Amino acid sequence: MSEQPVAQTAVRVSDVWYGVDSRWVLQGVSLEVRTGEVFAIMGPSGCGKTTLLKLIGGLLKPQRGEIWIGDTEISRLPEAKLTPVRKRVGLVFQYAALFDSLTVYDNVAFGVRRHITRREREVAEIVREKLAMVGMTGTEHLYPSQLSGGMQKRVGLARALAMNPNIVLYDEPTAGLDPIVAETIDTLIKDTTRRLQVTALVVSHDLTSVFHIADRIAMLHEGRIITCGSPEEVRADTNPVVRRFLQAGGIISNGESTMSGA
Ligand SMILES: Nc1ncnc2c1ncn2[C@@H]1O[C@H](COP(=O)(O)OP(=O)(O)OP(=O)(O)O)[C@@H](O)[C@H]1O
Ligand SMILES: [Mg+2]
Repeated sequence: MSEQPVAQTAVRVSDVWYGVDSRWVLQGVSLEVRTGEVFAIMGPSGCGKTTLLKLIGGLLKPQRGEIWIGDTEISRLPEAKLTPVRKRVGLVFQYAALFDSLTVYDNVAFGVRRHITRREREVAEIVREKLAMVGMTGTEHLYPSQLSGGMQKRVGLARALAMNPNIVLYDEPTAGLDPIVAETIDTLIKDTTRRLQVTALVVSHDLTSVFHIADRIAMLHEGRIITCGSPEEVRADTNPVVRRFLQAGGIISNGESTMSGA
């Protein structure tokens, strides 16, 4: 089907099923994220986006199917073997998820001290560089409660990038932000992905944001991927469920007709 060599695929999800309480949340999800792209997964609340991201991040295990991070299949790996894979995958969660009791500096330094270096001079250099990258220089001594939501997201991003990940998973990076701040976060995601040559997987129901940053977009609906392609391809999709979602999100207008007349 695909002519891409394996190295071009950063993440491959193959027929993944995940259930809770005798109900399938994900029902045979397959997708491929190419190295270096910004790939977005959109879909209504409760459709399984966060669950899918947690599976890819190795925080949950599927009942069926395979999840490949580069050339490693992670869904059946024991914890010890999962650790090195996890280090290659950065997570930026739905809510900033910073440690409230730690300063900005210590939040960004946290994983670095545990996994990269214990030499404080090197830690300080990494923290300085990553905070500069997200435009948060000078906030080192502040606590999360002293930052706005947008600033917290930036620190969350700096913390993920400090670990030098190959892949960064973002869960609703613009949730709760005003449109202007959301746009700066979008731009930051796009720029850092290019600059650090990482792969970004963004989950969001903020369609303005999705269509602004993504190279390719998939839509998850009731546990299944119902469309996947470039923004233009998804915009032109005739599936009425996709069209209704794009109309509600202001991406296409009600009057925009298709062959199916949706
Ligand atoms: N640990 C759990 N126990 C029970 N149900 C769960 C659990 N985790 C997820 N679910 C259910 O799985 C479904 C998908 O949840 P998920 O958080 O993945 O959705 P989502 O698409 O991220 O939604 P949102 O856009 O609101 O963040 C929901 O119906 C949720 O209730
Ligand atoms: Mg979610």
